[in-house]
Amino acid sequence: MEFALLNGSIIKRSEAKVDVEDRGYQFGDGVYEVIRIYNGKMFTVAEHLKRFVKSAEGIGITLPFTTLQLTEMLEELRIKNNLQTGNIYMQVTRGTAPRNHVFPTGDVAPTLVAYTIKVVRPLENLKSGVKAILTEDIRWLRCDIKSLNLLGNLLAKQKASEQGCFEAIQHRGQDVTEGSSSNIFIVKNGTVITHESNHLILKGITKDVILDLCNNNDIPVQERTFSLAELDEAEEVFLSSTTAEVMPVIEINGKKISAGVSGPITQKLQNLFEKEVEKQCGLLVDKVI
Ligand code: PDD
Repeated sequence: MEFALLNGSIIKRSEAKVDVEDRGYQFGDGVYEVIRIYNGKMFTVAEHLKRFVKSAEGIGITLPFTTLQLTEMLEELRIKNNLQTGNIYMQVTRGTAPRNHVFPTGDVAPTLVAYTIKVVRPLENLKSGVKAILTEDIRWLRCDIKSLNLLGNLLAKQKASEQGCFEAIQHRGQDVTEGSSSNIFIVKNGTVITHESNHLILKGITKDVILDLCNNNDIPVQERTFSLAELDEAEEVFLSSTTAEVMPVIEINGKKISAGVSGPITQKLQNLFEKEVEKQCGLLVDKVI
């Protein structure tokens, strides 16, 4: 039997229900996180919960639990569901109230939900790389908030999927921002470049792990806006996310990148990333490198 966390209680997942007037359901009025589990251990959980609090604060929701309480509850949920490899999905909404665009006043409690999903590592894609398309970034201007409102992201991802691609790389005019559910990196003259963490992108937890790995291993790295032209001329391109890790991008809009195979710096970072996972979560059985 699967369990879910609903407002502090772990209950049968089939019994975890929210009201039709939950503001997350009606307005997407909430924020979320996805945390990766390797070997039954949560990877970078403190960083995810810190971002969860920040996203919630960004839209004026005060979490009903401390991060320590949340960590304990998520671990209890993981144990109950015996999750070894997969994700914990967690979201908080502004709660249930009569439908009104204005925030409810009074003591409307936020709705907090978490559940687990078994997913293996995408080893095939991590080895061979994935294809992407380009698409104009039509999202709002607070992409730093991990909001439940994902329509812009979904439309971009669907377009990619319909063209047999894994990801849609978004751009505002000539500036590349991020993927529909990932951060984007290029390698130019041996330097790793990725968009600075501002309101136009999500400050990815995996992105920050990669930046640290670069800085600690003498891989030149820059956080700055790069253009479509730089993307087009890149020696290597990769994307990052909690579920996709460090994923080579080997084709964009039908054009091959680095001869259509994963490049050397991408592979080095995949190797360093796996070592970081092993440091926090124990030895991995199957590895990319
Ligand atoms: N998405 N940018 C966007 C728009 C994202 O949705 C994500 C993650 C990232 C990468 O962030 P992180 O490294 O912290 O996972 C960047 C998650 C995995 C999702 O929506 O499923």
